[in-house]
Amino acid sequence: MTKIRKAVIPAAGYGTRFLPITKVIPKELLPIGNKPAIQYVVEEAVEAGIEEIILVCNPHKIPIADFFRPDRYLNRFLEGKGKEKEIEDLKRIESLARITVVYQEEALGLGHSILCAEDAVEGEPFLVMLPDVLILPSHTGAKQLVEECQQKMAWGVLLEKVPKEKLSSYGIVKSVINPQGDFVIHGAVEKPTIEEAPSDLSLLGRYLLPAEIFKYINEQKKGAKGEIQLTDAINSVAQKTPALGILNSGKIFDVGTPEGLSEIYFHLKA
Ligand code: G1P
Repeated sequence: MTKIRKAVIPAAGYGTRFLPITKVIPKELLPIGNKPAIQYVVEEAVEAGIEEIILVCNPHKIPIADFFRPDRYLNRFLEGKGKEKEIEDLKRIESLARITVVYQEEALGLGHSILCAEDAVEGEPFLVMLPDVLILPSHTGAKQLVEECQQKMAWGVLLEKVPKEKLSSYGIVKSVINPQGDFVIHGAVEKPTIEEAPSDLSLLGRYLLPAEIFKYINEQKKGAKGEIQLTDAINSVAQKTPALGILNSGKIFDVGTPEGLSEIYFHLKA
């Protein structure tokens, strides 16, 4: 399999669970100590060998891209004050990866937001990383997914077991275990009821996808929540070319909620 160089991070949502702060600060920039949440996702991507991050934004989300770009006025100020360490720290962040911004003009769902990155992906297999989910340490998550998929020449998704009462909050996969002990995924259902759920394995928010996914997203009708769902496109591809399911071995934090953001803060402080 070719090297996985690009990761798409959908970040076009309005962050309504964090209002009122998200009226002026994108939720991806909310702080965990002095670091914005999205920096953890980008660092995880870089650990997985990613060179280019494609941020799917709405026009209010430009500060996310600015965070990863040099600010010459700030640098001049820091130089004047002899603040070498701060300059070096900023340089490290700015050189993590190339940042490309694409826009999702209408909030039509996760599948649609990934479709907005189609031109930037340029036909290569690519990662999708949902920034509401942080996985620590940074060498688990995406890196584990990329390495195992490359070894087995497959596309794939990171999985997490969820209790029954939470099945309807996630995309749930239909899978079998092959003789080598791998999860082989033949389908997926977005936000199923307990009765509809094909397993207790959820899509965690890290996907290594073939570029043909775009064709399948394009063909999707509105699914769960009346939105174009990535899970529905994954379901279509998996029926033809099964995917590898990798059980997550990292610790997960749902930073899509204020509670999750506090939880990771206290975890890192401990
Ligand atoms: C999204 C995906 C879902 C996945 C989940 C992981 O749902 O649609 O398949 O399981 O992220 O967090 P959302 O959380 O946006 O409702």
